[in-house]
Amino acid sequence: MHNTKFTITGITIVVLAIVFACQPKLSIKTAQYATNGQKLYITHCQNCHGAKGDGLGTLYPPLTDTAYLSKNRAKLPRIIKYGMNETILVGGHEYTGPMPPLPSLTEIDIAYILTYVTTKFGQDTEIYSEQEVRKGLSIPTK
Ligand code: HEC
Repeated sequence: MHNTKFTITGITIVVLAIVFACQPKLSIKTAQYATNGQKLYITHCQNCHGAKGDGLGTLYPPLTDTAYLSKNRAKLPRIIKYGMNETILVGGHEYTGPMPPLPSLTEIDIAYILTYVTTKFGQDTEIYSEQEVRKGLSIPTK
């Protein structure tokens, strides 16, 4: 049944098109990254940052501060892989951490997650590529 493969691909594209119909500017590739990223987000991030990325009180910062996300875009892969323990200002509130590291996530996992976060909670329409993740991880910490 070699047609099954095409049917599944067809169904996947239709589902993606429906899921991201509210964001028509996303390319199919970006939408696929975001869909994969959503699954990883639910497993690894949602407990703290919430299903809608709105954080939790004064403990966990929201991921909806587009100014913070775009200003710190290059740092995002490191925050995920190595965690964070600083005083930061997000959405007008101070957070002091810590966020635990997630060393088991691969570069492509992080690209999926960051595409989901920056397109779903932020306003980006561009993919967060694996290459951009690799570059971000290679920037030395202060
Ligand atoms: C155990 C709770 C926890 C988990 C799990 C967690 N975070 Fe965080 N995250 C935090 C805390 C706390 C901070 C603030 C860190 C600081 O102030 O140094 C933070 C900060 C951030 C920031 C920078 C500030 C902001 O709000 O934009 C980003 C981006 C982020 N987390 C994304 C993620 C992503 C993506 C995941 C999943 C891969 C994740 N976090 C998993 C608790 C968590």
